[in-house]
Amino acid sequence: GIHSVVRGVGSYLPQKVLTNADLAEMVDTSDEWIVQRTGIKERHVAAEGEFTSALGLKAAQAALADAGLVADDIDLIILATSTPDQTFPATAVTIQSELGITRGAAFDLQAVCSGFVFAIATADAHLRTGAFKRALVIGAETFSRILDWNDRGTCVLFGDGAGAIVLEGVPADEAKGRGVLTSHLRSDGRHRSKLFVDGGPSSTGTVGHLRMEGREVFKHAVGMITDVIVDAFAATGESAETIDWFVPHQANRRIIDASAQKLGIAPEKVVTTVQSHGNTSAASIPLALDVARKDGRIKPGDLVLLEAMGGGFTWGSALLRW
Ligand code: ACO
Repeated sequence: GIHSVVRGVGSYLPQKVLTNADLAEMVDTSDEWIVQRTGIKERHVAAEGEFTSALGLKAAQAALADAGLVADDIDLIILATSTPDQTFPATAVTIQSELGITRGAAFDLQAVCSGFVFAIATADAHLRTGAFKRALVIGAETFSRILDWNDRGTCVLFGDGAGAIVLEGVPADEAKGRGVLTSHLRSDGRHRSKLFVDGGPSSTGTVGHLRMEGREVFKHAVGMITDVIVDAFAATGESAETIDWFVPHQANRRIIDASAQKLGIAPEKVVTTVQSHGNTSAASIPLALDVARKDGRIKPGDLVLLEAMGGGFTWGSALLRW
């Protein structure tokens, strides 16, 4: 069989930083409230005219450089995003074109905050068939464009950014146990009105704004996250003890801590970036992977557990050996 092995990782954050103090000048909130409830201290915001495709392109270029590969080595691009440049074409084809790639396939994948985990699972399935050789899996978002900047309950939570990894299909005997080991995806549309955008091409003809019942999301998050991680452990025989790093979707410090605690994952194995990135939706996991890889925490051969939960609801886990 074929394994999908990580070749490189990269990320990009827009230059402009919005602190909690900046937000306190825009809505009735405080640094204390935001830090206590979410752990977030600051987030990055894209400049005017800086689109999701631009963030995703820079992350993709960084991942290619890290992998020691050139754009022409890539034949599959999957972009996880809920904030595409346009309704269509897929923002992935803009990135493909900017990279100068004219072969293979590029498409967007929409699973909100779970998008990167869904994209990893999708890329892995395609690489395993042998139909594609090397995939750029990107998460890129500009949630600042769909926030209601008058709603203090949501506008303090999100940030913009992008991250990407390169996966390569490698024969099992060469992979030596490395690669994506298992992935588990779930959704339950009964919860779709707890976290949604109140606009769209087919309903209102407008872009709309993000709406969320924060308490309802919080209530379901930890249970859903831990369920799919239990599935990942059951499928592989791995456990909270054997994993080296837990890289969760970065929505909220309290959700991350509660999930790790419930699973018995030691705090020092948890990679947390929510304090400086906010919730960047589908971009949060590859952004965190890049931080932990570049600062030397994640090393080749390490067992890395990913999870996410978001609008839909959608949720999922992926376990990979770096
Ligand atoms: N600053 C100050 N006060 C605020 C703010 C703010 N930014 N936002 C809300 N409040 C007020 C509310 O108005 C309310 O006031 P009231 O009691 O006078 O009515 C009070 O704080 C409590 O509001 P709640 O919404 O009940 O606050 P809660 O403790 O639930 O915290 C939060 C809100 C942080 C959104 C929390 O519910 C949460 O983290 N939910 C998870 C949502 C999440 O992470 N979503 C991300 C997307 S999904 C994902 O990625 C997993």
